[in-house]
Amino acid sequence: MDRDFYDQVILVTGGTGALGSKVSESFMNFSPKAIIITYRSETEMQESKTKILDGSSKKQKENHHTQVEFVKADITHEDEVKTLISGILEKFGQVHVLANVVGGYIGGKSVSETSEEEWDKMMLINLKSAFLISKHVMNSMKTKKFGKIVHISSATGAKASGNDSAYAASKAGLIRLVESMAEETNGLNITINCILPTIIDTESNRKAMPKSNFSTWIAPADLAKVICFLASEDSKIINGVALPTRGNSYGS
Ligand SMILES: NC(=O)c1ccc[n+]([C@@H]2O[C@H](COP(=O)([O-])OP(=O)(O)OC[C@H]3O[C@@H](n4cnc5c(N)ncnc54)[C@H](OP(=O)(O)O)[C@@H]3O)[C@@H](O)[C@H]2O)c1
Repeated sequence: MDRDFYDQVILVTGGTGALGSKVSESFMNFSPKAIIITYRSETEMQESKTKILDGSSKKQKENHHTQVEFVKADITHEDEVKTLISGILEKFGQVHVLANVVGGYIGGKSVSETSEEEWDKMMLINLKSAFLISKHVMNSMKTKKFGKIVHISSATGAKASGNDSAYAASKAGLIRLVESMAEETNGLNITINCILPTIIDTESNRKAMPKSNFSTWIAPADLAKVICFLASEDSKIINGVALPTRGNSYGS
């Protein structure tokens, strides 16, 4: 997989979040031609910019090959998505890889306790975002007859646990969206997949669930490796799947 991304343009949406930073860092280590990382909060961007650049490999730092750009964008707004994609195409001509790490969680509430606003928010950031960014990136991938798209669903999207209706429904919707898009692009040298993580070992999860057994949680760096694999030519025969990424959480 070493040189896979060398001439490629990689877009990581939500690339400054807990998992997103690791995904951005992992792609950087393959020295792609360009990596475009979207963010919303200036503070989060500044913090993770340092982490991503510091965390990239010695080889990457030495050859200075990769152009790194941070672009502010809310991908739940179609006009912002259009501007983002057209800006990248104007500058780089193509998006080879989209890793869409945007998403969020609201849970711990029964259906009757869940507000309309919370329901809409889950559908917006977990499902509509994936629809909009895929829609606009796929047009150019279809023209170029090349593309790799990886979305982040959740184990909860495959099987809900209760008290997570809006989140589970939005992540389940994402799995069907991935399947549908993969069927539509069949034969065009485009793969579209998603992964189904269980709890990720992030700072905010540790704060929210301090008494949990963290050893059963998934390391962001391990998920990033799977995402890079699904974006690489090594996985060209994998298309339209929702890949479980449960690590040590089996049976817990
Ligand atoms: N954490 C887990 O245990 C877990 C488990 C299964 C699946 N997942 C999924 O894994 C992905 C990453 O999770 P994470 O824990 O790394 O979360 P995170 O740290 O909150 O990262 C999510 C990123 O998405 C960005 N984002 C949210 N709404 C956006 C919007 N409308 N437009 C553009 N960017 C937006 C966030 O920016 P802001 O900071 O500005 O909101 C943040 O940078 C998500 O899809 C999540 O649902 C997480």
